[in-house]
Amino acid sequence: MDLSSQSHTAATCPVSLTINGEKRSFDLHPWVSLLDLLRGQLELTGTKKGCDHGQCGACTVMIDGERMNSCLKLAVSLDGAEITTIEGLGTPDNLHPMQKAFLEHDAYQCGYCTPGQICSAVALVKEGHAHERHEIREQMSGNLCRCGAYTNIADAIEEVMAADKAAPVREAAE
Ligand code: FES
Ligand code: FES
Repeated sequence: MDLSSQSHTAATCPVSLTINGEKRSFDLHPWVSLLDLLRGQLELTGTKKGCDHGQCGACTVMIDGERMNSCLKLAVSLDGAEITTIEGLGTPDNLHPMQKAFLEHDAYQCGYCTPGQICSAVALVKEGHAHERHEIREQMSGNLCRCGAYTNIADAIEEVMAADKAAPVREAAE
């Protein structure tokens, strides 16, 4: 259930967030998750709601550069944070290299898990801890794909990782 716009008599809290490079201020009830804020109030519906309790990774975004399940984060606890969603990585005309690689490798079927997979994969490359394919698979294990596109997802990430070793990490499509 989207609670971000639900009327209620309880007090709200002021919160400032930078979302995809844009500074925004809100007055939010303390129980509003980052996921509901993004999808409800901000209409950034690229971030998906799957399980809504930290099990599927569909809601993955980057918070201060780290991948996180946005369903598990209360927005009021993130005052001052920088949030990057799939909408902040690239545009249809100017895709992020990871978005391009997912397209080229057919790394999706229904696409529901894909924004979370891509945000997680971008952060994984930046983390620099995965070097082998089995490490990619293990470190992407928090992102479930009910269509079973795991092999192609790993192919896409491997390609971007290899390109990243030959060039500086790209923050966004240039
Ligand atoms: S919706 Fe957040 S982990 Fe499933
Ligand atoms: S592409 Fe359908 S759930 Fe992953």
